[in-house]
Order: sequence, then C-alpha cells, then structure tokens
Amino acid sequence: MPDKPDDDLVAAAIAVRGNAYAPYSGYQVGAAVRGRNGKVYTGVNVENAAYPEGTCAEAGAIAAMALDGEREIAEVAVAGPAGAIITPCGGCRQKLREFSRPEVRIHSCDPGGVRQTVTIGDLLPHAFAPEHLK
Ligand code: THU
Repeated sequence: MPDKPDDDLVAAAIAVRGNAYAPYSGYQVGAAVRGRNGKVYTGVNVENAAYPEGTCAEAGAIAAMALDGEREIAEVAVAGPAGAIITPCGGCRQKLREFSRPEVRIHSCDPGGVRQTVTIGDLLPHAFAPEHLK
C-alpha cells in the first residue's frame, strides 16, 4: 500500500466534480476509483426530482468500473465542496466494500486536495461482505 495518495486519482475526483448533477442539494460530489488493473473510473452524484432516486458519485464510479470488467478496487478518492470533510454515506461504504479489501484507502478531498485518509475497514468495520457468501 503506497504511503502517498495517488495524485492522478485525487485530481480525477476533483475534476469530474464539476459535472455533478446536484440541483436539489447543491452538494456536488466527484468520485474516482482505481482498479487493480491500474485504470481510473469516475462518477458524479446524479440527483432526481423524485429525491430517493438520486445516486451517489461513488455508485457511478463503481458502475463504470464494473462495466469495464474490473472487479477489484485498489484506492478511492471522493471530492466534495470545501467545508466539512466529505465521507462516503452508509450505502456507499457497503458498495465500496463489495469490491475492496478492508485496507483499501479512501481519500476525502475538497477542491484543494486531500483532507483526510481512512480505510474502508475504518468506515465499515465488521462488514457483511462477499466472503460471507462463499
Ligand atoms: N453524496 C455523494 O454522492 N457521495 C457522498 O460520499 C456523500 C453524498 C451525494 C448524495 C446527494 O446527491 C448529495 O451528495 C447530498 O447528500
């Protein structure tokens, strides 16, 4: 596991954030996941007039990764606005854990860069995960 955040991954999450569709909350989010294959997959939150139908940025990035056939996340960056440090919602913690070992790092970013780094195991300890169903 590298010590330093992956600069490309962080830059990708910050860059795509501008395309987030968040007219209701005004809270734009960009996410980038690096697959074990080395590729970066991005997503943004996409809200909906029927509020519960909105999707998170992490979900979009995971969908892009799955579409490409990748099944393992190596590292994650999530970018929100300046202010309180963004952290993936409960549902996204579970979605990320599906494709991540517990030690995979999540970099919480704002437009200025990384503000906090934790692991998915920190965010979702004692997870119910794919290994339970083997
Ligand atoms: N949101 C994300 O896309 N990812 C996160 O990690 C936190 C929250 C979105 C959902 C909703 O569109 C908006 O941010 C406010 O909750």
